[in-house]
Amino acid sequence: MSSRSSGTGPREEFLAEIRQQIEGMGADSNTHSLSRAWIQGTLKHKYAYHFSWMGQPIIQYPQDILAVQEIIWSVKPDLIIETGIAHGGSLIFSASMLELNAISGGPQDAQVLGIDIDIRAHNRAAIEAHPMARRIAMIEGSSVAPEVVSQVKSRAAGKRSVLVMLDSNHTHDHVLAELEAYAHLATVGSYCVVFDTIIEDLPDDAFSDRPWRKGNNAKTAVWEFLRHHSEFEIDKSIEHKLLITVAPDGYLKRRR
Ligand SMILES: C[S@@+](CC[C@H](N)C(=O)[O-])C[C@H]1O[C@@H](n2cnc3c(N)ncnc32)[C@H](O)[C@@H]1O
Repeated sequence: MSSRSSGTGPREEFLAEIRQQIEGMGADSNTHSLSRAWIQGTLKHKYAYHFSWMGQPIIQYPQDILAVQEIIWSVKPDLIIETGIAHGGSLIFSASMLELNAISGGPQDAQVLGIDIDIRAHNRAAIEAHPMARRIAMIEGSSVAPEVVSQVKSRAAGKRSVLVMLDSNHTHDHVLAELEAYAHLATVGSYCVVFDTIIEDLPDDAFSDRPWRKGNNAKTAVWEFLRHHSEFEIDKSIEHKLLITVAPDGYLKRRR
């Protein structure tokens, strides 16, 4: 049957092929092990710290940056909430994507709201002087402090499409509290992305200078959260596509 008579065009056929290839990668345990070994090998070199977005350091693996680009393009958020600012590279990245959405007919006044317990003066100055600054607002304080949570909620009120990304303190209790506070601000069809769930899959000594480790991390928090929140599901197709990601089980899609 020709593509015309089956009601599909070349683009749909191409996308169907891609879906099949991604499913194949998801089932390929050998490739998964190689990817995990590669991540483990690069962690000790602080690989995630070596990139920047529009001049500002971003602490991410490039594959995850690309996945978030795809999400921001398809969800077209008018608000992105991010916990964990550090140097501000991820805020600048999100803001630049909102700018691209805006010139492509998406929300014109979309904003990124960043929250960090410690916004260093030089980072704040660089973010505020950046060409993307008009799309960025910041709150200094713990992401789980009640006064911070209520400020974020009031900024999210009335927004049509909200994306949430959690990348601050990666302990179980902290991430679970962030999920309880912010996940439901993500609108239906959008995502709550939880970074550094990979900690659960790495040897115990991978983060000896940090409070998080196997059994106490962002992934264990996601699993506990999902036990009571079936309105979210893990979008496995994203990690199957990336293979290299610090957020396995961390791309949570809101279904209802
Ligand atoms: C991994 S960095 C964020 C990286 C950033 N998202 C990026 O991609 O470039 C983690 C940040 O979380 C912040 N942080 C730690 N505990 C926090 C808390 N309780 N509330 C808010 N931010 C916190 C730290 O100050 C640090 O800047």
